[in-house]
Amino acid sequence: MPTFKTSFKKTALALATSVTASLAFASAQAAEVEVLHWWTSGGEARAANVLKELMEAEGYGWEDFAVAGGGGETAMTVLKSRAMSGNPPSAAQIKGPEIQEWGELGLLGELDEVAAAEGWDELLPGTVAEVMRHDGQYVAVPVNVHRVNWLWANPEVLEAAGVEMPTTLDELFAAGEAIREAGFIPLAHGGQAWQDATVFESVLLATGGTAFYQQALVDLDPEALGGEQMVEALTTFKRLRELMDDDMSGRDWNIATSMVIEGSAGMQLMGDWAKGEFTAAGLTAGEDYLCAAAPGTQDAFTFNIDSLAMFRVEGEEREAQHALARLVLEPTFQEAFNLAKGSIPARPDLDMSEFDSCARQSLDDFQRTAEEGGLVPSMAHGMAVRADVQGAIFDVVTNYFNSRDMAAEEAARRMVNAAQAAL
Ligand code: BGC
Repeated sequence: MPTFKTSFKKTALALATSVTASLAFASAQAAEVEVLHWWTSGGEARAANVLKELMEAEGYGWEDFAVAGGGGETAMTVLKSRAMSGNPPSAAQIKGPEIQEWGELGLLGELDEVAAAEGWDELLPGTVAEVMRHDGQYVAVPVNVHRVNWLWANPEVLEAAGVEMPTTLDELFAAGEAIREAGFIPLAHGGQAWQDATVFESVLLATGGTAFYQQALVDLDPEALGGEQMVEALTTFKRLRELMDDDMSGRDWNIATSMVIEGSAGMQLMGDWAKGEFTAAGLTAGEDYLCAAAPGTQDAFTFNIDSLAMFRVEGEEREAQHALARLVLEPTFQEAFNLAKGSIPARPDLDMSEFDSCARQSLDDFQRTAEEGGLVPSMAHGMAVRADVQGAIFDVVTNYFNSRDMAAEEAARRMVNAAQAAL
């Protein structure tokens, strides 16, 4: 039994600690970051919470500026109106070439002091660091690496249909047919422009290969955009409608994932934020659900790097913003966040033993495709082209996908116009 003396000591210690903590909190209460993001699904919110808790543990305040909507289109619209009214948040989920667009507007603040103290130049792969800099200065910090070209499946549904995980598009169509005959929805999908584009780029990668993907969706080469390979990609993409259900219009991506989790649907083509949903549901990769590269894209990796860009702020808010930037690349955050988010860490030096088989495959494939030339930026997730070009391509893809009579040749012509009009 504890003596009066020892338990008194313990209580006094606990009190002293909590007084110090609350003093620290009181003095730092003004130092707060407001962070805009679109991590609102079950898995995403768990991941975002990691950062909030780490900031709060250091005595900083966290004002959550979450704007729902997969792919972030709504979040970007809200961000633009806040920035235009001269009141941007401290940090926002901004990615790829868009970081440069915000940098050109002169609205971003630099993080060079944090980057130098933490050795970001040595820590980050050169290609990643490049995206985070504007005019040679760090203005953003990467949180993860997502892979977009994934296929997810419910093994019980596959078994009931007597099929294996498909590895080619032909196998996908054949498996889909068998799954439907067994009484399930073959492919869970949400009819939203960004989800259509997510599926489309994986199909284009499968039918045309990495070099064609690069020419069409990254270099915006008119011959590639309007040529025969594009027509083939569009035609195959549209055939996928046969595997989808009639109620897909407007459905959120995480609802589609939950259909695979519950077993009403067999498969979903989606980036590995879907794994965050399987994880949040307590499921184990390789047992309760399966992952594989999207059919026909084993030698490619469409990357999507989430990052937080920092707006120009002053005083205490800047101090808190710098703490945020530092924490994001520390191992504690990188591990906990990415375990929940479904992605892999942005820094390649971390121990992956806590990560599941899909995450380890992602890391292996990332490194392999980087060496062999199959690593390409995701157009659908803002890594490849500017936001206006991306928006114009989304319109063509989604209008074609939903049109009853638009020919693939016509959609390919519109692709060329979309890229040109936006340049
Ligand atoms: C983001 C992910 C997010 C997904 C769905 C992607 O564009 O990069 O972080 O989970 O959209 O909202």
